[in-house]
Amino acid sequence: MLDGNVKNSKYPIGYHITPLAGLLNDPNGLVKFEGIYHVFYQLNPTDTIHKNKHWGHIYSEDLITWHRAPIALAPDAWYDKDGVYSGSAIIIENQLHLYYTGNVIDEAGEKHSYQCLATSEDGFIFEKQGPIFEHPKGFTRHVRDPKVWYDEKERCYYLVVGAQRENLTGTTLIYRSVDAKQWENLGDLVINPDILSQIGYMWECPDLVFIDNQAVFIYSPQGIEAQGHQYHNIYQTVYALGEFNEGHLLLDDDMQEVDFGFEYYAPQSFYDGDRILSYGWMGITQPEFEASMPTIEEGWIHCLTIPRELTLDGNKLCQNPANEIYQLRNQEIQLLNGTQEIQSSMIELICEKEVQEDFNIKIDDVFTLAYQADTHEITLIRKNWYTNENEYRKVTLDEPLQNFDWFIDGSVSELFVNSGRYVASARLFNSTYAHSKKIEMTSAQSFVKGYQLNAMNVH
Ligand code: FRU
Repeated sequence: MLDGNVKNSKYPIGYHITPLAGLLNDPNGLVKFEGIYHVFYQLNPTDTIHKNKHWGHIYSEDLITWHRAPIALAPDAWYDKDGVYSGSAIIIENQLHLYYTGNVIDEAGEKHSYQCLATSEDGFIFEKQGPIFEHPKGFTRHVRDPKVWYDEKERCYYLVVGAQRENLTGTTLIYRSVDAKQWENLGDLVINPDILSQIGYMWECPDLVFIDNQAVFIYSPQGIEAQGHQYHNIYQTVYALGEFNEGHLLLDDDMQEVDFGFEYYAPQSFYDGDRILSYGWMGITQPEFEASMPTIEEGWIHCLTIPRELTLDGNKLCQNPANEIYQLRNQEIQLLNGTQEIQSSMIELICEKEVQEDFNIKIDDVFTLAYQADTHEITLIRKNWYTNENEYRKVTLDEPLQNFDWFIDGSVSELFVNSGRYVASARLFNSTYAHSKKIEMTSAQSFVKGYQLNAMNVH
């Protein structure tokens, strides 16, 4: 069971990472270091608002049993005194290096950002090394979220960082270093002129990941307009494939949402042997929805996704639950047409065959998955906890619905469709079903089975 207030929540969460108390946002510094998975995350330990950011820390040997560690980085240096913002981890000469952004508000009230380093011998105690390079010229203070990796072929380190130009357009800057000490600014990572001038006013949390040697750029641009079924959240995370060469990236035109749900943002990937895992923040939402999220009265807010394994299927990014999650399976469930109450708040619903008919599955009276077979359209319908009105997210599948794997964890829904080609994250709130789940299924056939799940162990 989770600890702190979350354990006794009216909206319990059993197998997603939550804060012990306070506000959690982006996953940070994801790494496997000396056999241990370290998950750091943006944390305001003292309130449920976006202030006073620290790096919270939780670790595990198997992604199932977790241990909470003391806060890794607190805003206590001159270059990060108003927030230890997001960043990443890399192992260099057996030392864990954390690169992050320090946020500072000076006496005149002006804000500044510094890209900083902290190092650790053991992964638990960190020594801050301070800023690593000067603020680039021509950019506002919105320069943040460094992600660092080592390029085996070019034998150098690269660092990308989200940025805003003085003309208020967004971009990602790339730096190169041979020793991870002296960093050279190479300018814009992405070199397509149309993408650079058209996509948003700030790119947060850039992440360039290589899947089967194919460069996949995942980033969270702020300020893109809704387009068809896409980009209806306040901010969203997108990806595009591209060609990476000596520090510059030529992107394909085809940009897509990473997740078509209501709450998903600022994911980070990391290499774990042969596989690539990712966690996202679940997640960003309208300020008025966030300020009224029901868990606030219990002193905590938000969670991370489950770990997702990233693969490519052609040019489509696929995300599937990391295998370890399946160890949580317990008693089997068979979903019948009609209403059922499952005596667990943690369940997995599985469909393993192509579906040629319309169906609806409604959870706890507030969240519905609807499929329309003739158009291959999936609609998520959620009763919003603030407006009390239904809101919708949709995706049109390129092919019929072939399978889904749907994870429900109390107030969390994470849906993986067609072997991870489409994924949707969302929160749902109905305190009547704190320790059970009400499921209403409307379909001509029963093709959904599943499992009750165990909670992760969190110590
Ligand atoms: C994304 C973000 C990052 C920033 C952090 C601050 O959610 O705004 O750009 O570093 O959160 O908590």
